[in-house]
Amino acid sequence: MKFASTALGALGASVLLSSAGALDLDVESPDSIKEVASVVAAGMREWYTGDRPGDVPGNLPAPYYWWECGAMFNALIDYWYYTGDDQYNEITTQAMQHQVGEKIVAFMPENQTKTLGNDDQAFWGMAAMSAAENKLPDVKEGPSWLSLAQAVFNTQVARWSSTCDGGLNWQIFRINNGFTYKNTISNGCFFNIAARLYKYTGNTTYADWADKAWQWQLDTKLFEIKDGGYHFYDGADEKDNCQKVEPIQWTYNIGVHLAGAAAMWNASDISKNGTRKERWAKELDLLIKGLDIFFPDGVMKEVACEDIGTCNNDQRSFKAYLARWMGYAMLVAPELTFDELMKRLKASAPMAAKTCNKSTDSQANCDLKWNPKGNPDGKIGPGENMAVLEVVQNLLVKNAPGPATEAVGGISKSNPDAGGGTMDAPVTFNPVTTAGRAGAGILTALVLGATLGGAYWMVS
Ligand SMILES: *[C@@H]1O[C@H](CO)[C@@H](O)[C@H](O)[C@H]1NC(C)=O
Ligand SMILES: *[C@@H]1O[C@H](CO)[C@@H](O)[C@H](O)[C@H]1NC(C)=O
Ligand SMILES: *[C@@H]1O[C@H](CO)[C@@H](O)[C@H](O)[C@H]1NC(C)=O
Ligand SMILES: *[C@@H]1O[C@H](CO)[C@@H](O)[C@H](O)[C@H]1NC(C)=O
Ligand SMILES: *[C@@H]1O[C@H](CO)[C@@H](O)[C@H](O)[C@H]1NC(C)=O
Repeated sequence: MKFASTALGALGASVLLSSAGALDLDVESPDSIKEVASVVAAGMREWYTGDRPGDVPGNLPAPYYWWECGAMFNALIDYWYYTGDDQYNEITTQAMQHQVGEKIVAFMPENQTKTLGNDDQAFWGMAAMSAAENKLPDVKEGPSWLSLAQAVFNTQVARWSSTCDGGLNWQIFRINNGFTYKNTISNGCFFNIAARLYKYTGNTTYADWADKAWQWQLDTKLFEIKDGGYHFYDGADEKDNCQKVEPIQWTYNIGVHLAGAAAMWNASDISKNGTRKERWAKELDLLIKGLDIFFPDGVMKEVACEDIGTCNNDQRSFKAYLARWMGYAMLVAPELTFDELMKRLKASAPMAAKTCNKSTDSQANCDLKWNPKGNPDGKIGPGENMAVLEVVQNLLVKNAPGPATEAVGGISKSNPDAGGGTMDAPVTFNPVTTAGRAGAGILTALVLGATLGGAYWMVS
């Protein structure tokens, strides 16, 4: 007995040891995909403490910002949708309902006003949109998921600016640092939400705003056709009438537009407006061609900062969103996107999984650098895990029915007028916490511009 149990103990230890180290992913096996997604999601969840007694639901501990927590719950909503594992649904619902805000119910909580950007708000709004699309049940007491996405849309429409002939400013409140910057991610998130609301509800008001946000960015040269595909830049400042575009390219900017364009294509009815349908098919083609820059050697890379080692905590999560929105595009526009996008995910996901080490049998921590030529970065965090989780779980799109709509399967309650009310601007802003915000925006752009210098070719 004694001997046997010692032997068993030794066996147990060696199993544990051999399970430490890189995760192997078989991209053709749904079981393997789910297993890897499960341990990576569990590792990500370890960073979150908001459900503990006395802690605040919907915040990640410092130094991670509020918006990233919303982005993380979006990843978990999709995790449940793709894998069927609902173990995180409760903390997701709790966090999202806690952060809807007080005076205006549109993800504008008072605690965040000193640094609240349109992009920050929108990351929570897009999580609510995913909840509606994936049919996460609405809560009994509290706003519906769909109405929260509508509320974010309505509050942002009201902020459509007159400088530079339109667009959204980065910050919501004028007093906040970076207000004059008009960043691509804020405008891209607005486009994404408008397009998905159009697909979900069929209401053409949303489509008109999606068109407008797209066109304004194109006119402002926040994106343009280069080498046969769209290249998306970081933003421009109203102080010089948006004449000088910051040329840094991030994965999430092309991603947020890719999903929105796919929704526009899906929702356009050729018998009602053939021009609209054809137009979005062409845009999707240009978007897919623009992806190449982020897949050197076939594996997804945050080219602006990975090799030079300057990716900040925000940027360490950006690849998650490109993967997420590639998945969305494949779900709603498969005939135009599936082959091209799945090919890229299949090449990236095993490399991404290989960078993850198991910390326990059921949890792993992952690295930022997936490319075999890049040495591990050696840092771990929720963003690194989120990126691997998304690039892995989106391999499951083929088995998913795709986003619900009001007409087909949707269960979330609509409120087209959501998001009313007024709220005071902060009296003072906090220059320290404003500096590293979600959109990366002008501050990182300037820092990177200086660092990269002659290496602009790489990203522009
Ligand atoms: C705002 O901060 C207070 C104090 O930490 C906390 O009790 C409250 O739950 C926070 N509100 C939100 C919406 O996070
Ligand atoms: C059809 O779509 C085009 C392109 O998006 C748009 O400019 C036009 O206003 C739409 N026409 C109608 C009748 O909605
Ligand atoms: C549009 O999206 C739905 C999922 O929301 C999907 O079932 C449908 O096949 C898509 N339409 C086309 C033409 O791909
Ligand atoms: C995984 O383990 C290797 C070897 O010890 C190490 O170099 C790497 O940084 C680890 N990665 C993570 C994400 O912990
Ligand atoms: C369509 O959306 C707009 C903008 O939110 C709203 O004002 C309008 O009432 C909606 N129309 C319908 C029929 O729901």
